Amino acid sequence: MRSKQRVADHGEVFTPPELVEAMIDLVGSELGRSDSRFLEPACGSGNFLGPVLQRKLGTIDARYSRSDFERRHHALLALMSIYGIELLADNIAECRTNLLEIFAVHLAVEDGDEWHLAAHQVLSVNIVHGDALTMTTAGHRPVPISFAEWSYLGRGRYHRRDFRLDTMTQLSTTGEDTLFAGMQNQDMFTPTRDHGSLTVDDIARGDDT
Ligand SMILES: C[S@@+](CC[C@H](N)C(=O)[O-])C[C@H]1O[C@@H](n2cnc3c(N)ncnc32)[C@H](O)[C@@H]1O
Repeated sequence: MRSKQRVADHGEVFTPPELVEAMIDLVGSELGRSDSRFLEPACGSGNFLGPVLQRKLGTIDARYSRSDFERRHHALLALMSIYGIELLADNIAECRTNLLEIFAVHLAVEDGDEWHLAAHQVLSVNIVHGDALTMTTAGHRPVPISFAEWSYLGRGRYHRRDFRLDTMTQLSTTGEDTLFAGMQNQDMFTPTRDHGSLTVDDIARGDDT
């Protein structure tokens, strides 16, 4: 806990590391894939997202030990597959910093390196300062939260498409007795933006934002 007031106002109670490890053990097989996606809708400073990233990076090292090129690109893909939403500004900043530190230490890259810059850009997109209940961003003019679907095309290129969270959430509740029963999957899976094919350098320079 940071303060009793924050607990009362925002339910801010952090999960202890041993409990986090026991919980992510339950989805252990997913942590072996660099592209398996994780969303923490009340991510705090990243108590879950950090260990998820650590485990993914560990398995990538073993799998791509013979190619540093692929090892680095899959490490960035692992970061791209981690998503968070958090209401409080200090927590969101801390969460991004913590995840960037894990990535940077793992790849031995420093501030100014293009991999460091690319990771910074990815985190500014994937770790959203917003309200998971209203599914809108924080600030004076809230807008619907969008998440980027990143995929690795191979040979150093990624593809990014953006989707609205509220639309994706509707899809998961689509059933015969819901408001969305009449909607077609293709309507819901239409990206709000397709950024096309991107290199690490494009992402680092913010060419896709
Ligand atoms: C119980 S804490 C959990 C933090 C972290 N997941 C952990 O386990 O250590 C809940 C977090 O959700 C945030 N939060 C509260 N209401 C929220 C909302 N509507 N949308 C997004 N985050 C919210 C709080 O600021 C707090 O950081």
